[in-house]
Amino acid sequence: MDIRFVTGGGGDVVAVMAGEGGQLLPAAQALDAATGGRISKAMKAIRFTGGLGWAIDVLAPEGVDFSRVLVIGIGKPESADGMTVERWAGHAIRRTLTSGAEKLVLQPDALPGVSKSEAGAHAALGARLAAYRFDGYRTKMKPEQKPSLTAVEIALEGPAAARARAEKDAAIVEGVYFARDLVSEPANVLYPATFAERLRDLETLGVEVEVLEPETLEKLGMGALLGVAQGSANPARLVTMNWSGARVKGRPVALVGKGVTFDTGGISIKPAAGMEEMKGDMGGAAAVAGAMRAIAQRKAKANVVGIVALVENMPGANAQRPGDIVHTMSGQTIEVLNTDAEGRLILADAVWYAQDKFSPTAVIDLATLTGAVIVALGHEHAGLFSNDEELANAIEAAGKAEGEPVWRLPLGPGYDKMIDSPNADMKNISGKPAAGSIVGAQFVKRFIKDGTPWAHIDIAGTAWKPGPYEDPLSPAWATGYGVRLLNRLIASKYEE
Ligand code: BES
Ligand code: MN
Ligand code: ZN
Repeated sequence: MDIRFVTGGGGDVVAVMAGEGGQLLPAAQALDAATGGRISKAMKAIRFTGGLGWAIDVLAPEGVDFSRVLVIGIGKPESADGMTVERWAGHAIRRTLTSGAEKLVLQPDALPGVSKSEAGAHAALGARLAAYRFDGYRTKMKPEQKPSLTAVEIALEGPAAARARAEKDAAIVEGVYFARDLVSEPANVLYPATFAERLRDLETLGVEVEVLEPETLEKLGMGALLGVAQGSANPARLVTMNWSGARVKGRPVALVGKGVTFDTGGISIKPAAGMEEMKGDMGGAAAVAGAMRAIAQRKAKANVVGIVALVENMPGANAQRPGDIVHTMSGQTIEVLNTDAEGRLILADAVWYAQDKFSPTAVIDLATLTGAVIVALGHEHAGLFSNDEELANAIEAAGKAEGEPVWRLPLGPGYDKMIDSPNADMKNISGKPAAGSIVGAQFVKRFIKDGTPWAHIDIAGTAWKPGPYEDPLSPAWATGYGVRLLNRLIASKYEE
């Protein structure tokens, strides 16, 4: 789908804005006048509220160069921001992508908090994110199931500024698409070796990619990571993606991702119903990979290293057993009481490796770590845990601005105690149903060195959605959650 910025012209469909209460914004007003009031009439006929996503369709109106006028609500104009415009454009795409129309014209207006050229750029970003599909494996789609839209034109008087910004935002789109594709891929296609192979592509953007194989992980002493992997015929990988974009070489920020390409639970096996969703248990690694892609593509002036731990958690003949005790790279030992609490085991070695090898200024890990975070926060917020106020605040702000919100949850010694073990330095579950997400975070924290700013983002509820897909910017099952947040965090806190 082609996105162009234009100053005028026609098309199959035009989308314009209306505010809550049904007031037409300037572009809609102009069309209303040109069609002899057809739009206001249609609005009354269906009790159009103008709430975000509400739409009226005026078909085959006379007096304009379009066969369909789509009026889409944006809610209260005074509280609209860039994300509102993205969602507005997303709704327009959703209603036209497979409609038979080939060309959609978006006519965004300036809003109290969004200039016209910002609105144009956000419209472009929203349109592209909303046009995502994962249908490469569908060989028998009927014509009406296939996208018909080939071009989106964004009408603005002086399009240069919006065009420049949209070119920058292309990095975000590529990063989010990359992450969504990785999360959506089935586990027979995407397993540690093939995941690592896909990350090699980042070399073309100037990212230094290193793939560590099991013999090396063994030498490094990563017994926790290898313990999870040992039940699978698909051996583990640990991949580092190094982007040195700052003018001076220096300590990087480390982004660490949980990459369980499939989580059966291992010997502590999961119930059959819904297990297919566990192909997405590498959503943290996908977010890190997507963010690295965005950061490199826009040539961010920052030093960032992405590290993903890739394993498949299977109950094979050599699988680890409940009660096994493993040695981590940090030297600490773990009693594995539940093989389904595997994410924290691989993160233990991955975050330690990150600190040992790169001496990062901060460690931020993303993981689909606990079902409990869905109980707490549903699919609206990811769970944030941090030992550093400044870092936590920056993550909160980045998530809010990019439509990937987080909600902070506490840490504390009382929770930490819950994973003490009589048989090893710690156990990997508390054995109690209380505070499951916090306990997972406390476990990871045991592998963070004193003085290292660290944040853990539990994205079990946000890496994919149970559907129906209400967010127009995320039309498929995989959301790509985390890419935009991390990219913005780097831009706002770590870039020169
Ligand atoms: N990958 C799961 C967490 C998960 C659950 C992600 C649902 C997305 C949706 C994780 O490895 C896991 O199994 N966690 C256990 C931890 C428990 C054994 C302490 C869980 O949440 O039940
Ligand atoms: Mn698990
Ligand atoms: Zn898992």
